[in-house]
Amino acid sequence: MLEKMKRWTSLKEPDSLSERISECKNYQIPEHIAIIMDGNGRWANKRALPRVAGHHEGMKTVKPITRLASELGVKALTLYAFSTENWVRPKVEVEFLMKLPEEFLGTFLPELIEENVQVQMMGDRAQVPVHTLKAVDQAIEKTANNDGLVLNFALNYGSRNEILQAVKAFSIDVKEGKKNPEELNDDIFSSYLMTPHLGDPDLLIRTSGEIRLSNFMLWQLAYTEFWFTDVLWPDFKGEHLIEAIEGFQKRSRRFGGLKSEDVT
Ligand code: FPP
Repeated sequence: MLEKMKRWTSLKEPDSLSERISECKNYQIPEHIAIIMDGNGRWANKRALPRVAGHHEGMKTVKPITRLASELGVKALTLYAFSTENWVRPKVEVEFLMKLPEEFLGTFLPELIEENVQVQMMGDRAQVPVHTLKAVDQAIEKTANNDGLVLNFALNYGSRNEILQAVKAFSIDVKEGKKNPEELNDDIFSSYLMTPHLGDPDLLIRTSGEIRLSNFMLWQLAYTEFWFTDVLWPDFKGEHLIEAIEGFQKRSRRFGGLKSEDVT
């Protein structure tokens, strides 16, 4: 309780970003942050630009946010870059989105290697163009020995698809006598998903004012703290990430139980 009150009172004082960053580090930093990077299209529309210009600007936002997450000691940053439902968008937009990882990693990979960031990807690789996978796989390979922040791109990712694939894989293991359905529990099921090594997100951020999950990490978000902001993703800055983390630090996470001070 005292810890929580300290957080509230101390928040009034520091205002410059660097002060807020150091203040934030005195409290619990979410180990795994997941972000639904929404609002690129609206950012472009507001400026009478084509939607792809919004995606390009959104890609640029990923760099400072990754740097800050790494500086804060966040262990994993999962970014929803393309969903299994996004294929229905105009061809030109889909093709543009599939080129972004190449451009992003083409300019940013040396820094990621240098800064000890490990790149990972989760999603259904089957439909992803070869040129996109080539860039992503190269980054995965070149950062495989890094043990700092995990930068995990959700690319052609859909949570229902992920869960269905997990159910299928588990059923095959049962059929082959490797698993017993009676023993199925949260941990075993999680091990069939795409994130067993990352742990569940502690904090989910969705930008652009939309308040929904859009088929993102439905299983993993069971006890995650949610932070919704009206800021459009291309406008999302370090101060917004800090604001979300400060908000997270004020939350009382109970995971279905009670805090000791609440037990009467
Ligand atoms: C949703 O905004 C955003 C996407 C479907 C794509 C997100 C991708 C990026 C931010 C770039 C990813 C960067 C890398 C490095 C892969 P929207 O287009 O639905 O926005 P709207 O709701 O305003 O139309």
